[in-house]
Amino acid sequence: MRRLGSMTALAGLLALSSAVLLRAGGATIGGPVTFNGQIAKVVHQRCASCHRPGQAAPFSLLTYEDVSKRAALIRAVTESRYMPPWHAEPGYGKFKDERRLPDHEVELLAAWVAAGAPEGSGAAPPLPSFPEGWNLGEPDLEIAMEEPYTVPADGPDVYRNFPARVPTQEDRWVRAIEFKPLARTVVHHSLFAADTTGKAREYDAEDDIPGYAGMSGGIKGKISLRGWAVGGGPRIFPEEAPIRLPAGSDFIFESHFHPSGKPETEVSTVALYFSDEPATKEQITFQLPPAFGSGAGLDIAPGDSDYTISESLTLPAAIELHSVTPHAHYIGKEFKSWAELPDGGEVPLIWIKDWDFAWQDMYVFEERVVLPAGTTVRTRITYDNSAENPRNPSHPPKRVYWGTGSEDEMGSVVFHGLALDEAELPVIRDEISKLNKRHREQAKAYRERIKEQKKLASR
Ligand code: HEC
Repeated sequence: MRRLGSMTALAGLLALSSAVLLRAGGATIGGPVTFNGQIAKVVHQRCASCHRPGQAAPFSLLTYEDVSKRAALIRAVTESRYMPPWHAEPGYGKFKDERRLPDHEVELLAAWVAAGAPEGSGAAPPLPSFPEGWNLGEPDLEIAMEEPYTVPADGPDVYRNFPARVPTQEDRWVRAIEFKPLARTVVHHSLFAADTTGKAREYDAEDDIPGYAGMSGGIKGKISLRGWAVGGGPRIFPEEAPIRLPAGSDFIFESHFHPSGKPETEVSTVALYFSDEPATKEQITFQLPPAFGSGAGLDIAPGDSDYTISESLTLPAAIELHSVTPHAHYIGKEFKSWAELPDGGEVPLIWIKDWDFAWQDMYVFEERVVLPAGTTVRTRITYDNSAENPRNPSHPPKRVYWGTGSEDEMGSVVFHGLALDEAELPVIRDEISKLNKRHREQAKAYRERIKEQKKLASR
């Protein structure tokens, strides 16, 4: 048996000999690929942020045992780029904290698996140390949901809003925000807002169940503080533009839960980091198309694998873009945003070829993208409502309209940025308002039309 063991190892080594001449970060490595040698470092650095106890992924990838027993699956999901989850096309926009695995590491994992996933000699590399508590350190303020909410075992997705009192005596300026769910397996996303009208608390009081139903809070004039979605890290705002958190307001968690098969109790917490200085600039936000596509006329026939919407905005003054957040539901397929400069040049902003509802990332540009006056920012979004789309929630596919249910559709890219010259802020805001207004009118006509269409269809 002993002999057989070493024979197998030898055969493995021979099979590997052509595959081990891999370039790792430019250097050529010639030895056998082993867990202790190279693989531990890769999984600790690229996978363990989610694949460790208490994080989003369903199992740990820390020890030799964790990793070797899933070797084949790990090879498959890294070669297909399903893991680590990162959907922005490389080379099209450059973002901070990219989770994409470099090609040579994909090859390294494949070579290791092909060789029979050897552990290697020597001691296992030490487990990396991860920040306990909050990634950004001690926060200035933590706000938690005031009561626990129980997500049922099954049934449709739940959209619910939870106001929590902001205890500060004066207005504060939020420069960063980090989110921690308790029941990680069911919290899909949570958007944050501050409500100064008291309306959120009124809605909450309407029944005995914590929070109130609906997607995105339903409060006019609330202050958006961005949000978190599965796998997302802390949100850090441009330093000149922290967001005001009014004293005595209600912080709202606008949460989306996806039942897991057993009841789960959620108490979400956010850590807030304050800036000493108030904002010297205000963030500019616009969406293409506006309002998550409510005025874009979505009417996607069953079987249509290439339904497209697009919108653009021409900037009356220069801005610098800080981040982009694409949003769609299940049958969204492709997102592309780019900027056409007045001199004819083109700047790639973001391209997602294989949208996944489960990864609603905010993509922060590595360096802010400066767009001069006269630039046209464009977005094109494509949907696949065919039976061949494995993410289509309807079998057979059905006609899909815009709506807030997760099986309805939405679609937009949210852009965040700053005016290059703050004096130009009003003209930029005006242009954005014009576009938004046009879409509100379109949305109204659309709702009428769809109502009519549904009436006819039900006859
Ligand atoms: C940002 C968080 C995150 C990172 C980083 C990440 N994963 Fe995952 N992984 C998940 C989550 C969440 C799931 C479960 C949901 C799913 O399958 O999409 C998962 C599932 C998996 C699965 C199971 C897939 C299946 O079909 O059952 C494998 C295997 C896996 N990950 C391997 C890896 C490897 C290897 C890495 C690093 C190279 C990695 N993951 C990095 C979050 C992450």
